[in-house]
Order: sequence, then structure tokens, then C-alpha cells
Amino acid sequence: MPMLEATGISKAFGGLAAVSKVDISVNEGEILGLIGPNGAGKTTLFNLISGAIQMDSGTAVFEGKRISGMKPYQICRLGIGRSFQAAKNFDGMPVHQNVLMGALFGKKGQSAANASKIVDEVLDFVNLNELRDKMVHDIPLASQKRLEVARALATRPKLLLLDEMMAGLNPSEVGEAMELVTKIRDSGITIIMIEHVMKAIMKICDRIVVLHHGAKIAEGAPQEIAANKTVIEVYLGEC
Ligand SMILES: Nc1ncnc2c1ncn2[C@@H]1O[C@H](COP(=O)(O)OP(=O)(O)O)[C@@H](O)[C@H]1O
Ligand SMILES: [Mg+2]
Repeated sequence: MPMLEATGISKAFGGLAAVSKVDISVNEGEILGLIGPNGAGKTTLFNLISGAIQMDSGTAVFEGKRISGMKPYQICRLGIGRSFQAAKNFDGMPVHQNVLMGALFGKKGQSAANASKIVDEVLDFVNLNELRDKMVHDIPLASQKRLEVARALATRPKLLLLDEMMAGLNPSEVGEAMELVTKIRDSGITIIMIEHVMKAIMKICDRIVVLHHGAKIAEGAPQEIAANKTVIEVYLGEC
């Protein structure tokens, strides 16, 4: 049984079908890539899975429990964490307090001692310890992106949804981000990642799902997707 199985999920905004009857599933231990042109519905799909917005139709089941209809904090507590495309770091706070927000959001009745232990572990894991006392607006973009991931990790997810964590990074920073994603997976966390950096997607994903105009147009191993005519036509041709 897949860890997450979403079936027939749809969401329209006014007359626009942002996500249209999409089936998507991820198996425990996988890195699943989610690609497609801008406006394809990728972020909306994450918003639907994480409960930020409600689906018009369809169901999502995580580890055997139906999560469609649940609130974001309930879905987070079941073990789905997410990072945001437009980083939602708290600018007026130091780095370590941002991670603390994740630790507190993740668990009910989290003790201060335990939360601060999680903060230390996560900062260490993503290599941000040296910047822990800096304010968010004083750290470079690549570190802000890492912090976005750190806050999600502090909720202690089993499944992590990463939304364009590599956007705006230079090639060496992309390399470091790829190492981080692999390290997260190796620590036992399943991943769905939205990304436009094809080199990274093709290299680290086990499987890829392609969205176009809200619909799933292809699914398969990286090499199958890279050779898929429709995908090349609507998306890869422009990369
Ligand atoms: N809250 C919203 N209200 C209205 N339209 C939205 C909203 N969120 C997304 N959309 C629209 O839905 C479509 C899919 O957007 P999005 O999921 O952000 O695409 P992607 O992440 O693939 O670039 C776009 O046309 C976008 O303008
Ligand atoms: Mg998006």
C-alpha cells in the first residue's frame, strides 16, 4: 500500500481548473518528483494534500487514514510536513526561533526542552548551526531556502513536500541542496519535490509525475519522462 494515495483530486478557482482529477501516490522511502510548466497546478496540489485549501472532489489517504477534510495542523501531526515556494520564514526572528516554530507546530504539548532539542538537531542536520542567531533577512538566499526546509523538518514529518527549494540557487548551491534532499531521504523521510531544476530532478528522483493545465499527463521513471514526447512538447522543450 502506498504511503500517500490521492485519488481523483480536483480544485477549481472560479472557472479555472487548477487541479483536475489527479491521481498521485508515493511509496515509503521514495523521492517523487512533481514537474510541469508554471501554472500547471503543482503548488495547488501540495496545498490540497497539506490541507491549506480544501479539494472540490477526490480523496487523499495517508498511512491508511483519510486526510482530505482535515485541518493543516492535523495533517502535520499525522506526519506530513511541507516547505513553501515563497519562503514563509519569519523575517523578524533569528534562525533558531524559526525552526522552533516548526517544532511547536508539529506536536501537541511539546515541552520547551524537547522543542529546543529538536531545533538543535535540525539546525545541525541542515548545516545552519553557525547562522542560528542571525536574523533571517541577514542570511543568504540559499540559507533561507535551507531554513524553509529546516522548519518543515522540525515538525518531524514522515512525508516531506518540498516546493521549489532549489529555485534561484547557483549550480554549487543546487549540488548542496541535492545532497540535503538525499540525506533527508536516507534518514527515513519520504519526499515529494516540485522542482524546475531538471538536472536535480532527473538525478535524485525515483519516479516523476508531470502536470499540465491541472491534469497529470505523464508518470514514470526519470529516463521515461525525459523521452516522453508529450512532456518534451509541453515542458522539457523549454528547459
Ligand atoms: N488561491 C488562488 N486563487 C485563484 N487562482 C489560483 C490560486 N492559487 C492558484 N491559482 C491558479 O491556479 C493555477 C495553478 O497554480 P499553481 O498551483 O500555483 O501552479 P504551479 O505551482 O504549477 O506553478 C494558476 O493558474 C494559478 O493562477
Ligand atoms: Mg508553484
